[in-house]
Amino acid sequence: MYVLGIESSCDETGVALVQAEDAGTPRLLAQALHSQVDLHRDYGGVVPELASRDHIRRVLPLARQVLAEAECPLEALDVVAYTRGPGLAGALLVGAGIACSLAAALGRPAVGIHHLEGHLLSPFLSADPPAFPFVALLVSGGHTQLMRVQDVGRYELLGETIDDAAGEAFDKSAKLLGLGYPGGPALARLAAFGDAEAFALPRPLLHSGDLDFSFAGLKTAVRTQVRKLGNVCEQERADLAASTEAAIVDVLVRKSVSALEKTGLDRLVVAGGVVANETLRARLQQACAAHGARVHYPEPALCTDNGAMIALAAAMRVQRGRLERAPGHGFEVLPRWPLESV
Ligand code: KG4
Ligand code: ZN
Repeated sequence: MYVLGIESSCDETGVALVQAEDAGTPRLLAQALHSQVDLHRDYGGVVPELASRDHIRRVLPLARQVLAEAECPLEALDVVAYTRGPGLAGALLVGAGIACSLAAALGRPAVGIHHLEGHLLSPFLSADPPAFPFVALLVSGGHTQLMRVQDVGRYELLGETIDDAAGEAFDKSAKLLGLGYPGGPALARLAAFGDAEAFALPRPLLHSGDLDFSFAGLKTAVRTQVRKLGNVCEQERADLAASTEAAIVDVLVRKSVSALEKTGLDRLVVAGGVVANETLRARLQQACAAHGARVHYPEPALCTDNGAMIALAAAMRVQRGRLERAPGHGFEVLPRWPLESV
């Protein structure tokens, strides 16, 4: 079975081809990605209309590139998968429109995939894939959630952020520190030169006893520090970046360990853009080792948004007969879509 996956929920256009048998982990044959970072940089964030228009320009050339690289003729496709949500409505519609048109022309099923399901299954394409069940920590620009994952499509929400997402906390703090878009990686680079204990920043809900997160107060604390310091010198900026990163990472690590304790599971899967953060990886590795638990990550190239995770999730759903297929040729996207409802 050959599954083409198209991701267009935000600011990356991703297309990939996976091959799967009736059972066993699907194999990634080829993938191509176009990041819109340069397009949005001048605006300090993603401009939805520009994002949609750029997806329109990129999807077909990327799809041709992927099929050529895998030497797979268009007619050989068995399933065309796309990100159905959550994300920017216009951006989602581009991928959904193209995927559903292609599937209709080929007489094959089009499968709409939840973006976060793609992220949380993405470590199955790594050299060290997890086994079900596991706890998943999803940390992206729009979401921060802990899920109990029993199998594909069987997700139980354990806790989530009540305000900003972890990636958003990185991005907003980076903006306050005068760093450009995308803020998360820029803040992480600066943090490497700073002292994480220089500023005492809040760790909201650290001892709340539940598995929820809150990052809005941290952003306010960073703003207060920046104001207090006035003209921030380079070292102070690095110290504040390191202290911010440490505060976010502390909470993510503590709550992940609590989730493992509460569920009695010994595998943690971490996915979403923030998993690219080296400090988070190192701290999670340490904390999980101390608890006799294993941590699984996606391959570095699959940490941020990509088409491979969408093709993979579709293939794993087909293998289990868990497909929701819309009747006829109509389609819809779901800009807001809770994962536990899939
Ligand atoms: O999953 P993703 O690519 O897109 C969404 O679905 O949101 O995640 C993007 C988020 C952004 O907030 C970005 O700043 C953050 O991931 N991010 C990082 C790092 N790389 C990406 N945050 C901290 N450290 C990083 N190295
Ligand atoms: Zn994402």
